[in-house]
Amino acid sequence: MARTLIAGNWKMNGVSASLPEIEAIAAGVTPAKPGVEALICVPATLLTRASAAAAESALMIGGETCHAKVSGAHTGDISAPMVADAGASHVIVGHSERRADHGESSETVAAQAAAAIEAGLTPIICIGETAAERDSGKAIEVVTGMLRASLPAGADPARLVIAYEPVWAIGTGNVATVEAVDEMHTALRACLSGIFGAAAGDIPILYGGSMNPGNAAGLLTVRDVNGGLIGGASLKAADFLAIYAAA
Ligand code: PGA
Repeated sequence: MARTLIAGNWKMNGVSASLPEIEAIAAGVTPAKPGVEALICVPATLLTRASAAAAESALMIGGETCHAKVSGAHTGDISAPMVADAGASHVIVGHSERRADHGESSETVAAQAAAAIEAGLTPIICIGETAAERDSGKAIEVVTGMLRASLPAGADPARLVIAYEPVWAIGTGNVATVEAVDEMHTALRACLSGIFGAAAGDIPILYGGSMNPGNAAGLLTVRDVNGGLIGGASLKAADFLAIYAAA
């Protein structure tokens, strides 16, 4: 059985003045609930300070992306060893906003995930269909295809986290139905089992997309939902902690 991970994604939000929210979240998740991990992924500029703020707590800190290369002439990019060096334990790769804004393909995402693992980080590999893909009835086919293409070759399943985030549910308030989430997560688990065998059962599969304190309990009771990747509702400690409490 996979452990549960409640992960926040601050996206391009947060400056020094936001650090008290990290401190409040860190205090609220400490001591840790058995079997439930808490993580906040922050902009690169906050990684070091957020890591320091969470140091004595059960809260883990993550990055929001990393480059596939260790170093080099890539102005403005941040490598996986840099994210790890700044105190992160995890890094999001392949978020739909990165795929859309920066043209990151699943092949790029697989290389980023491999770089993350090499640097000692746990990658959170994001996949999800657009509204048009869901409307065409191809959501499962599209998302399982994205999963296969975004996994680094030969990855240790103990080092992976998957996040299913339907693009149409992100930041829209249009949360996927429990039935649709159940169907997708069951398909993703089956896909992972085909690749990793029994060890696939230990890979957390998170749901993301307008998860909030009101809908978290319902989503988190779905059999193959092992946590959440939470954007907007992770910016306020009270909302994030209410979701953590629901897990
Ligand atoms: P949201 O974002 O919770 O604001 O919909 C989720 C995400 O993009 O990770």
